[in-house]
Amino acid sequence: AAKYRPFPAVQLADRQWPSRTITQPPIWMSTDLRDGNQALIEPMSPEKKLRFFEKLVQIGVKEIEVGFPSASQTDFDFVRMLVEENRIPDDVSIIVLTQAREELIRRTVESCVGAKRAIVHVYNSVAPVFRRVVFGMGQDEIVQIAVNGTRLIKELVAQHPETQWGLEYSPESFSTTELEFSKRIVDAVSEVWQPTPQNRMIVNLPSTVEASTPNVYADQIEWMSRHLERRDSLVISVHPHNDRGTAVAAAELAVMAGADRVEGCLFGNGERTGNVDLVTLALNLYTQGVHPGLDFSDIDAVRQLVEECNQIPVHPRHPYVGDLVFTAFSGSHQDAIKKGFAVQKSDALWEVPYLPIDPADLGRSYDAVIRVNSQSGKGGMAYLLEQEYGLELPRRLQIEFSRVVQRHADATGTEVAASDIHALFAKEYFEQ
Ligand code: KIV
Ligand code: ZN
Repeated sequence: AAKYRPFPAVQLADRQWPSRTITQPPIWMSTDLRDGNQALIEPMSPEKKLRFFEKLVQIGVKEIEVGFPSASQTDFDFVRMLVEENRIPDDVSIIVLTQAREELIRRTVESCVGAKRAIVHVYNSVAPVFRRVVFGMGQDEIVQIAVNGTRLIKELVAQHPETQWGLEYSPESFSTTELEFSKRIVDAVSEVWQPTPQNRMIVNLPSTVEASTPNVYADQIEWMSRHLERRDSLVISVHPHNDRGTAVAAAELAVMAGADRVEGCLFGNGERTGNVDLVTLALNLYTQGVHPGLDFSDIDAVRQLVEECNQIPVHPRHPYVGDLVFTAFSGSHQDAIKKGFAVQKSDALWEVPYLPIDPADLGRSYDAVIRVNSQSGKGGMAYLLEQEYGLELPRRLQIEFSRVVQRHADATGTEVAASDIHALFAKEYFEQ
């Protein structure tokens, strides 16, 4: 279980303005091993995929898209390995993607035979530009592809009752499609599948290419949520890509607009500018006082594994996890943070200025929080001397000595480590 502090950073009750908020986490679906993997310059080896899968399980993700087995022998073998070596915990569903084509569907279902829970994720593209330019088909033919695919999946999975099967249907390019047509095709699929409130069908509504402001996507989700047939037998899922850099906002607004589930990748890997970042989403919830149900209490270990598997570094200013996000160079920030730490009680509401979350909640240490360079004032160096060397300088001395540190920082143009500050202090006051 996650080891986060018991109190939220923000008390919802303090809010003075009327607004929608998210009060419970969505169902999380990781597509790191599918959408994320297919966007890598060098796709993951089976060993890396397995390590990534196990990390996702450890974090608490219960729905994991593990590949596109009909498109890749590596993915097919990976799914078989997960099933045959009993690598999938009983409460975790694996998801396998397929296009709505007969031979691909057969191969996809075959890859999962013997699994305890498996979700077949079938998709076809529905937007006008795909209908006209890519397929040369009308609306009726596009609906028929989805319906025929669903019928075949239903027939095939019925032959393997030992598995709890689920269906996920994605009208690819949903966010640039006429809403009435998206409703028509999803209703047609659910008519075939016949989901129930106990065994819901997942309707995934992707912004395959992010094409609008986040509120427009959220409006589309809200419209679908209000108009789809059999709503209580459906899980409405969103799958935002980040082409405009607003995928996190799009997902958050979509959840407020009625989505039950979010698909994305850790730290926002994925096609082009990425899939929505599940870590930022989860920790944004956490800072609003909603437990995300995912464990990022050792976020550096998660980051290290993801960097190794994806071979893509996490940006130093990436929310919550970047090297620089719990660092203050400005003197006034350092001073405020130092004062905040001095009065912060371990079991109280988190109230340290400039830090939206306690770094310790993510397994990061206070030591790295305060750093000193030419932009810093007295607060940062005083904090480091106290923390690292137990030296508590009186205020007058802080002011005096900070000029020495400042001169050194100006001369070198680099960051000044705690050990350098200590050496400067010794030289200034004890070596004359
Ligand atoms: O971005 C997308 O539309 C997809 C679908 C296959 C769900 O990845
Ligand atoms: Zn995608």
